[in-house]
Amino acid sequence: MIESEQTSAGMFAGGLAGTIAQGARRMGGRRAWPPYELIDRDAIERAEAKSRRLERLYHLTQEHAWDGKAVLGALVDKHGQPGRDMDPEIRESLTQVLAVLLWGELAAWTISADLALAIDDMDAKMAATGQVFDEARHFYVLRDYLVLLAGEDRVPPLGGLPRRLLLDVMETPSLAKKLVGMQLLFETNAVVIFRRLAESGVCPVLTELLPYFERDESRHVGLGVIFLPRLIERMSRGEATGVAAFHLRCIAMLIGGGFMLRQHFEALGLDQRLMATRVTTMQDEIVRQMVQAHGSGIVRALLNPKASPLGPRVLDFIHPPGGLAGAPDWHRSLHAGVTRVVKAVDRALA
Ligand SMILES: [Fe+2]
Ligand SMILES: [Fe+2]
Repeated sequence: MIESEQTSAGMFAGGLAGTIAQGARRMGGRRAWPPYELIDRDAIERAEAKSRRLERLYHLTQEHAWDGKAVLGALVDKHGQPGRDMDPEIRESLTQVLAVLLWGELAAWTISADLALAIDDMDAKMAATGQVFDEARHFYVLRDYLVLLAGEDRVPPLGGLPRRLLLDVMETPSLAKKLVGMQLLFETNAVVIFRRLAESGVCPVLTELLPYFERDESRHVGLGVIFLPRLIERMSRGEATGVAAFHLRCIAMLIGGGFMLRQHFEALGLDQRLMATRVTTMQDEIVRQMVQAHGSGIVRALLNPKASPLGPRVLDFIHPPGGLAGAPDWHRSLHAGVTRVVKAVDRALA
């Protein structure tokens, strides 16, 4: 069952719910009644603008919907069967990376369906419903591509770490944790990996196919940006700390997942340091947008690896600026030790 972190006012007044809740907190429970914010022109305009942006996400989904079967079919006709002339090692690495993304799409489909069911606010519910439609398409198109690339019995099983991460976000009863896991973490990582894979030119079908995915994923981030702060604003300090702890745990599992795919990203010529930097820059931009619109109070439930003093150090340790081969001996042996531990955890969780 999903925890309801909203007030029923969300159903009726959309973005006004956050304003009302804020007012109630300021004035102390029932003493806040009547909610004078409801007749405050600025507050109404701010709330209506947020609702319009959420409602727009749904209509954008409808406008930009694409026919997955037709797009993939046309690209295969144009370029030939994926992987036909590919080096077997490259094909294996591409299969390994895409297999993780495939199950990520299935998880995103399930999570967005949960959100569409659980969110009371009508505009946010419409945005989540639009996302369900997109994620279903992403899943079947990626599945059809992978079957063409590797053969249906050659798609590898999901490793223990990514499996645990996807299950954690799917199984949490908290709407806020679902939004943090999917909209802030999965979507930003997916956008960057899709873009880099398309740019790499590893497969001409993917180069033309993945921009369709990337456009949809970029739009999905919007639901988290607009709706998550409304939930955080109403949280107690303990609830907010719980969301931040969940965020940290998901980041740790994502980093572990990155260790497991390291050799495959290298084989595909994808620079993990560059990708990690792009992901954290994107997340930093998202947190900035939230703070700009809702104030710095929302950061109590979120982490921002780019803004944290620890973030760049972790990045330099995992992906040293000049490459791991050029790092000092102590760094390489510590890195090898961490890799062994991550692989053992991945096996234990499988
Ligand atoms: Fe997706
Ligand atoms: Fe998505």
